Amino acid sequence: MHMKLIVAVDRNWGIGYKNQLIISLADDMKRFKQLTQHDVVIYGRKTLESFPGGRPLPDRVNIILSRNPAIKVPDANVCRNINQLGKKLQQYPEKPAWVIGGESVYRQLMRYCRKAYVTQIDQTYEADAAFPDLDHEQGWELVYEEPWQEGVNRLSPDKEVVRFRYLHYQQLLSISKIHLNPK
Ligand SMILES: NC(=O)c1ccc[n+]([C@@H]2O[C@H](COP(=O)([O-])OP(=O)(O)OC[C@H]3O[C@@H](n4cnc5c(N)ncnc54)[C@H](OP(=O)(O)O)[C@@H]3O)[C@@H](O)[C@H]2O)c1
Repeated sequence: MHMKLIVAVDRNWGIGYKNQLIISLADDMKRFKQLTQHDVVIYGRKTLESFPGGRPLPDRVNIILSRNPAIKVPDANVCRNINQLGKKLQQYPEKPAWVIGGESVYRQLMRYCRKAYVTQIDQTYEADAAFPDLDHEQGWELVYEEPWQEGVNRLSPDKEVVRFRYLHYQQLLSISKIHLNPK
């Protein structure tokens, strides 16, 4: 099962602070929705808690990773480990699968991803969650960069205008497949 990932990073590859995003751009959110709609989205329990109302994303197959056996989420699948995730993904062979965060899930699943859709924000923010620097990550290569654009950071009280652009990376080494436990 090959997947894609999508992430918004600042200049230091920071992605979050206190379990929230560090930036929110309307155009980027719209693009995220367009790209992932009707597909499978995979994310960690903490990222679920950061969503509005702590609810899964509409119009997508939501797969949440949590080791807590007590967690049940309406309108979503919960997987307890990567093996279970591999099995669950086999139920949706026709659907693209996107890894959408947060840090711990990106770090574990990026090896299975062929492409990374990175929104780069031309600023640095206080962050306690980060994405690996793909410019120095073995096997990953920047294949396309879109022109810079400007947008308003909806999380900033003074409606800060920031520059951002979309970067496309590919993993060129052989890609691992999620190991499926035969049991
Ligand atoms: N900028 C972006 O594009 C972007 C996107 C998404 C998220 N974020 C940010 O990232 C931050 C959250 O990242 P995070 O690393 O703290 O949390 P996370 O990856 O969202 O969630 C971590 C949780 O996922 C579960 N988990 C992780 N690996 C697992 C595995 N192999 N098997 C079963 N469960 C597993 C565990 O849940 P349990 O504790 O329940 O066992 C773990 O505590 C937030 O600040 C968020 O806003 C940014």
